[in-house]
Amino acid sequence: MRNRPVLFLLLALTISAQMPHGISGGVVVSQERLASEAGAQVLREGGSAVDAAVATAFALAVVHPAAGNLGGGGFLLSRPANGQPTFVDFRETAPAAAEPRMWLKEGAYDEERHHHSLASVGVPGTVAGLHEAWKREGRLAWPRLLRPAIRLARDGFPLSENQAASLAAQLPEFRKHAPTLAQFSREGLPLRAGDRLVQRDLARTLVRVSRNWADFYRGDIARLILRDMKANGGLLRSADLRAYRPVRREVLRGSYRGVEVLGAPPPSSGGQVLIEALNVLEGFDLKAAGAGSPAAVHLASEALRRAFADRARFLGDPSFNPDIPLDRLLSKAYAAELRTTIRPDRASVSAPDRFTWPRDRPDTTHLSVIDRRGGAVSLTYTLEDSYGLKRIVPGAGFLLNNELGDFNAAPGLTDATGLIGTPPNLAGPGKRPLSSMCPVILVKDGSVLLVSGSPGGRSIPSTVLNTVMNAVDFSMDARAVVDAPRCHHQWLPDRIQVEADLAEATKAALKAMGHDLIEVKKQGCAQVILVRDGRTEGAADTKRWPDSGAVAE
Ligand code: DON
Repeated sequence: MRNRPVLFLLLALTISAQMPHGISGGVVVSQERLASEAGAQVLREGGSAVDAAVATAFALAVVHPAAGNLGGGGFLLSRPANGQPTFVDFRETAPAAAEPRMWLKEGAYDEERHHHSLASVGVPGTVAGLHEAWKREGRLAWPRLLRPAIRLARDGFPLSENQAASLAAQLPEFRKHAPTLAQFSREGLPLRAGDRLVQRDLARTLVRVSRNWADFYRGDIARLILRDMKANGGLLRSADLRAYRPVRREVLRGSYRGVEVLGAPPPSSGGQVLIEALNVLEGFDLKAAGAGSPAAVHLASEALRRAFADRARFLGDPSFNPDIPLDRLLSKAYAAELRTTIRPDRASVSAPDRFTWPRDRPDTTHLSVIDRRGGAVSLTYTLEDSYGLKRIVPGAGFLLNNELGDFNAAPGLTDATGLIGTPPNLAGPGKRPLSSMCPVILVKDGSVLLVSGSPGGRSIPSTVLNTVMNAVDFSMDARAVVDAPRCHHQWLPDRIQVEADLAEATKAALKAMGHDLIEVKKQGCAQVILVRDGRTEGAADTKRWPDSGAVAE
C-alpha cells in the first residue's frame, strides 16, 4: 500500500470530488481511517466496490476489534455498476444444539447464559459472506484483499486516543480470559495512545483465510474454534461450522418521493422498519416542516413507533417464518392507513400488549463504498456486544460473537422487564437471530444517490431514516446529513430518544405534544456517501467516533 499520510489526513474527514460524467473516482467511508485507506487503495488498483468493501471489512477486523470482525456476521448490500442489486446475508447461525428453551436454567431465565456465555456464540458468517460477495462481484485476487489486514495485524498499528480508551474500558472483562488479555493489553496493563497493537495470531489466521477461506469452517481455524468450544462448554460443533452457508436474498425494495430505496430483508428488520416508516412519512410535507423541527421529529417518531410495533410482531428468520406479511407492511396503502392514526400535534400511545423486543447492545460497525464505475456497497456487520463475547479464540486471535443473544428469551416468557417469548424469533437449530442492521442504498434516476448505514442496535433503522430524510427532504450536503442531531422511537419504551444537541425549543415542543424524551450524547455512527449533481461526497461520522474516515481513491 502506498503511503500518503498528509494527503489522506486532509481527505480523512469529508471528501468530495467533482465528477463531470457520473462517478470518476471512488470513495470508502468506515469507522477507522486506516481501514478506509485499505479499501481506497484497492479502488486505485481498479477493484470493484465489493473488492474495496471486503478489504475494508478485513482491515476493520484488525483496527476496530470492537465490532470489525472475523468471528461475527452481517449483511452486504451491493448495487454493481450494471444496476442489478444483490444482497448477501452472512448473519450468524444457531448450532444444531439450539432450542427455544436453551436460555432457561431450572425453568428460570438465565441472562448470563443468553448474553455472555459460549452458548451465545453463533456460527460466524463473516469470512464465508465476504467470500461469497467477492466470488460474484470481485475483480482483484482474493489474497490481495486480505493483504492490508495481514500487515496491520502482523506489524501492528499505533493506537489512537479513542482506540486506547476503548480497549482500556474493557480490561476488566478481558482479565477474565488470559489469551484475550494478552492480545489487548501490555502484560495486563492498559495500552496507551501511540502504542502499537500487534496481533500475531490474528495475522496467522488472516494468512490462512487468504490462502483458503474455507479453512475457517473446515480446516485449522475450525479446529481452534472447536477445541475452545469443547474445552469450555460451547455448543458449536464441526457439523455446524461445515453447514454454514451465506444466503443470497432478494433485496427489499421501496420508494420514497421518487427515489428508489434498496434495503435489507429478513432476518434483518432494518429494511422493513426503514421502508415502512418512509412510506408513512411520504404523506407529510417534511421539507416545509424543516430539519430538526418539532413536526419533523414528531412525525418521524410516530412513523417509527408503528414500524417497530410491526417488527416486534412479525419479523424473524424467514426460513422459519415463511409468512412474514412483508408485501402488506411495505405497501403504500398500509402506510396510508397508518397515517390516519397519527395526529399532527399529539403523541400517540404505544399499547404495551404482548409484543416487545429482544435486547440489543450498542456495538456494530458500518462501511460505505462507491467505485469509479458507480458500483456501490453498503455493509453492516457485528459481534453483537462491543468486542462480542470479549473472548478470543485461543491461537486464532479473533473475537467470538454473542449474537444468539438476539434471540428471544424463551417460549411464553414475556414480562414487564422487556423479556419476550413470541415465536418468530425463538432460538432453533440452524436459525438466524433477528437483526436491526440496516445497510441502505438510494437510487435516483438510475444512479446511486446515497449509501448509508450505522451501528446502534434497535436505533439503527432510525439513524438511517434520519440520514435519508436529511438527504431527500432537507437537501443537506453529506457533512450535514451525518452531523445533524438524530432521533429514535422504537414503540416500547414509549419515548423519543434524541441527541442532546437537538434544539431546546424542539425538545420543549415535543414534550408539550405529550412525548417523553430521553437524551443521549450520540446515536449510532453513520458512514455516508452522497452523490449529487455529479459530485460524490463521503462523510465519516467523526462527530460520534473520531477515528472514522472517508478516503478517496
Ligand atoms: O443485529 C443486530 O441488530 C444487533 N446484534 C446489532 C448490535 C448492535 O447494533 C449494537 N450496535 N451498535
